[in-house]
Amino acid sequence: MSSTYDRHMTRTSSGPSRTSSSAPRAVPTLALPAEPAGDTAVPRLPTVVVSSWKGGVWKTCLSASLAERLAFAGLDVLYLVTDDQLDARRRLGISESDPDVARVQRGAGSVTVVGLAGPHAVEVLYRSGPGRLGRFDAIVVDTPPVKKGGCLPGVLLVAPTDGDDASANLIRMLRATPANTEIVLVRIDRVPKHEWLHDAAVIHDASDHAGAFSYLSDPLPRTDEVRDALNRGKSVWTLPRRGPTREFLHGVESLAGVAWGRIRPDTALPPLASAAASPTHIAGWDDDA
Ligand SMILES: Nc1ncnc2c1ncn2[C@@H]1O[C@H](COP(=O)(O)OP(=O)(O)OP(=O)(O)O)[C@@H](O)[C@H]1O
Ligand SMILES: [Mg+2]
Repeated sequence: MSSTYDRHMTRTSSGPSRTSSSAPRAVPTLALPAEPAGDTAVPRLPTVVVSSWKGGVWKTCLSASLAERLAFAGLDVLYLVTDDQLDARRRLGISESDPDVARVQRGAGSVTVVGLAGPHAVEVLYRSGPGRLGRFDAIVVDTPPVKKGGCLPGVLLVAPTDGDDASANLIRMLRATPANTEIVLVRIDRVPKHEWLHDAAVIHDASDHAGAFSYLSDPLPRTDEVRDALNRGKSVWTLPRRGPTREFLHGVESLAGVAWGRIRPDTALPPLASAAASPTHIAGWDDDA
């Protein structure tokens, strides 16, 4: 026998009658994410930071070359300079008269350079994202030689050192590096590999870093070709790949591979397109390095 309620509901029933199976729908309880602790934050986009608590250890050179290499791999890269922007712009062949937010095409991708001071950089990296600056696949950050360059959470931190009294300062910087940041140590200037291996192990132990920590196995050689290219705003990726320049580029290629692994984890870094490749070098006929 139906209840009073059922009789009432089915009286004018041209539509579906409500039965006990159409119980009110429950609104699932939504879980708010916990308040993130400062050092567990992650940037809005995959981010590589090049930082060392020392001046002149090729930070701008490495960050610009890395940004370009990722662009050649097809990415639109935001190159965020928290240091004097002029230096970085010059390396990419951007002149002072070009707009403040300057974009250069590199193969299928691009590098957009913008200079932002600390809090503005944090806004773009962790809060609002690039917003008006455009749509990007990844961010590369060039920093001035100060300890706080190493304290950004959730990034890939490339930390170059020249070994010359740098280790003590570098260790102080790395001790402040959040655990969710992956560190890659880079030795600039050639030293015997076993020496570098030893130094890298010492820096690792002393840094007390709880997160991922690796080092580029081969020290990067000094090369006049790279220095001259940088000073003339010419991409290092257009240089003939030979001698120490090739070794240097191998190093940056390896760093780009690590960065790519965070940006497009399911694929390998695409090889440089032929447009970026240097002309054929004929040993004995062309000038040898
Ligand atoms: N592979 C290389 N071989 C020779 N010279 C290089 C190489 N890479 C960079 N340099 C030169 O070393 C100098 C310092 O490089 P760079 O400006 O990139 O260092 P930095 O760490 O950014 O310096 P700063 O701390 O002043 O920002 C520059 O004159 C640059 O041309
Ligand atoms: Mg610099």
